[in-house]
Amino acid sequence: MKLPSAVALLLSAALMAQQVQAKLTWTVKGTQNGVPIPPSEIILKPFEAAYGHNFGPSGPTTAAAAASVGRVARNRMVKRANPIATSANWCGSVRNATTSNRIKLIHGYFQHPTCTKRAGVTTYPQAAASWIGIDGDSSTTLLQMGTVCKIDNSTGIVRNEAWWQWVPDAAMTLASMPVHAGDWFQVTINTTSATSAVISLTNVNTLTAITINLSAGTSLARIDADWIVERPAYGSGLAGFASFTETWFQEAYATLANGASLGILGAKQYQITGGCSSAEYDNADLSAWS
Ligand SMILES: *[C@@H]1O[C@H](CO)[C@@H](O)[C@H](O)[C@H]1NC(C)=O
Ligand SMILES: *[C@@H]1O[C@H](CO)[C@@H](O)[C@H](O)[C@H]1NC(C)=O
Ligand SMILES: *[C@@H]1O[C@H](CO)[C@@H](O)[C@H](O)[C@H]1NC(C)=O
Ligand SMILES: *[C@@H]1O[C@H](CO)[C@@H](O)[C@H](O)[C@H]1NC(C)=O
Repeated sequence: MKLPSAVALLLSAALMAQQVQAKLTWTVKGTQNGVPIPPSEIILKPFEAAYGHNFGPSGPTTAAAAASVGRVARNRMVKRANPIATSANWCGSVRNATTSNRIKLIHGYFQHPTCTKRAGVTTYPQAAASWIGIDGDSSTTLLQMGTVCKIDNSTGIVRNEAWWQWVPDAAMTLASMPVHAGDWFQVTINTTSATSAVISLTNVNTLTAITINLSAGTSLARIDADWIVERPAYGSGLAGFASFTETWFQEAYATLANGASLGILGAKQYQITGGCSSAEYDNADLSAWS
């Protein structure tokens, strides 16, 4: 599909920026059931054909557009007070901090969904990415980690993968992390400066944990805390948005520089018109559904 020109501009800006950045470096370690995994068995590979998940929410922003989504009655939805915003590709909660008290750490669990071809959509691949990250909404860099389901063609065969990305550097697939529909994942992104962080992803069902220690990333503003299901980008455009079972994020919080905790209540609640709705449940739990 054709990308909005703002997105295309952002993409070329990101590609240019990439050439002048200090080189992102990292070390990686993992455990299986608490036992260290030999480094040779932890496989990272470039995220397939991707500029990755580097588009900020660039969709329509009117309340009228948002009014058509997010009104489905759900059993667990007792509260729906967050300000609604719409996006071309982000669905979920973004909580904003200030430059005088930046985000230090973000945490959450989410359940990797069951994905299927979306009725009436003939664009392939179709995909849906669930992730937790810092920045990318009111700032252009973004550090994020999560999973993606991807349907390459009309056969409807689903591939499930884990990945991380420090935008504008390319996304990386954690090829040795098991990912199945229904598995729960825990993400912790712990910044040690604007340009370094320790990020971890644990498959809580298989007890597989991967921790990556990153240095020399592009400077983060550390002002947005994101819990998102995304319509990701592949190649030169957005993927078709796969249908996915309701995705819950739980124990969601960010920790600020002064030690205070930031939750979901008051977050900007992103919706993708015709693609995904999301709502907060309480200060630590939200869900997104297609
Ligand atoms: C969100 O971040 C932007 C950019 O720093 C800032 O202008 C705005 O005031 C912030 N909003 C809140 C509610 O903190
Ligand atoms: C369709 O996608 C599946 C899963 O990636 C792949 O194994 C298969 O070869 C693809 N089929 C065609 C006809 O491209
Ligand atoms: C985050 O990193 C700091 C060091 O900057 C460390 O003291 C702290 O234990 C880490 N927190 C978690 C939850 O890993
Ligand atoms: C991450 O790497 C830096 C050096 O690049 C090191 O100083 C730091 O101790 C490492 N942190 C962890 C948690 O391994």
